[in-house]
Amino acid sequence: MSSAESAVETLPVWASADDADRTLALLRERAAVCRVRLPDGPEIWLVTRHAEAKRALNHPELIKDPRRSPNPAGIFGGRRYPDDATVVFGRHVLNTDGPDHQRLRAAYRPFLSAQAVKGYRRIVESVTADCLDRMSGGPAADLMAQFAEPIPAHVTAHLLGVPAEEVSTINALATDFASGRPSTTLAATIGALMDSALDQIDHKRAHPDDRLISHLIQLHQRGEWTLQEVAATIVTTIIGGMNTTATLLGAGAATIADQPALQRMLDDERECAALVDELLRYRPPTLHTTWRFAVGPVELGEANIEPGDLVLISLPAVNRDERVFDRPDSLLFDENATRGTHLAFGYGAHYCVGAALARLEAAVALPALFRRFPRLSLAAEPAELAWNIGVIAWNPVSVPVRLEQV
Ligand code: HEM
Repeated sequence: MSSAESAVETLPVWASADDADRTLALLRERAAVCRVRLPDGPEIWLVTRHAEAKRALNHPELIKDPRRSPNPAGIFGGRRYPDDATVVFGRHVLNTDGPDHQRLRAAYRPFLSAQAVKGYRRIVESVTADCLDRMSGGPAADLMAQFAEPIPAHVTAHLLGVPAEEVSTINALATDFASGRPSTTLAATIGALMDSALDQIDHKRAHPDDRLISHLIQLHQRGEWTLQEVAATIVTTIIGGMNTTATLLGAGAATIADQPALQRMLDDERECAALVDELLRYRPPTLHTTWRFAVGPVELGEANIEPGDLVLISLPAVNRDERVFDRPDSLLFDENATRGTHLAFGYGAHYCVGAALARLEAAVALPALFRRFPRLSLAAEPAELAWNIGVIAWNPVSVPVRLEQV
């Protein structure tokens, strides 16, 4: 029986990443592309295997712009589920395709290219040092609140040219939004985020600098971008860059604390880069890619995807596909093992524009953490860490540690 004919199963509400791994392993074994219902949400096609994920992410009939879907008003069953940041406001890189997408994406290049990202090292070092100094005051810490969240928050603020004092407000709004379960109505959350983006635009008009928002304002003034595109891009950058990197830093630090033998890899630049890459594979910091909308019939695995259908790629599932990765449930650094390329940053036209920056943040912050606190240990079993699991994003709620300073 093909996956299309089997009864549609509702995904459980997972409490932790390990919980999700167990369900996803079963789904991946069953089919490359599974018909599932999201909790309280629509039926979707969930891609669980690596080869099919790459095909889906490059498929011309699986697009990002919901307005081009055959039934735009009926997306998500006619309601605004799942409160997905990337669909419901503005025009930005994650809800456009083709030339529009290329135009919007190009604006990031001067700020996030591999070359440009080298210029962020000093700020990442300085923000990390500040976080570690503050943690040094006590015997214990929560790595999410005191390390993993503030570092990308400050780096994103620097990228945008937003004053540091704005960072925590925007971060809280973005976190609430990206959780998929906003504390107020979706419209109120979007409104607050857009208002804060528009405030920043107004401020930057009066005080231009050489950072991203000022650059976007120039594009708007030249008639190349609408104001709404500028505001939506500010919000997308915050959502794209902060929670994702926070999860890499927080979950990554938890994994290293749990397997202290990994710590020595942090001392060597190349080994550290390999460790960060394997952490990204093992525990990808986003749960799903953002939405794809089918605009024509697509055969993928055994699934017959129809126009109007919704498609998500499960990154934890594809990153542990045993067809591509030997012993996928452990961190593995064996050069003789079969290791494909993980998809934690996506693939194809929408490949993460911030990948180099995220890697830099991890390569600076994780070694600094364990240099400062070499006997850092988890104060909870890794499997007991609670996770906030939204539709696209997922974050450990907290990562409690003992610092045991030497
Ligand atoms: C560990 C950290 C990060 C992870 C795991 C991550 C993951 C991803 C993934 C999976 C995609 C593809 C989404 C899709 O195809 O539907 C993506 C795209 C994107 N990411 Fe990241 N990201 C990270 C950090 C960042 C940072 C630091 C920024 C910006 C400062 C950023 C901005 C973006 C943007 C703007 C896109 C859309 C690109 C496009 O559509 O052309 N991300 N990211």
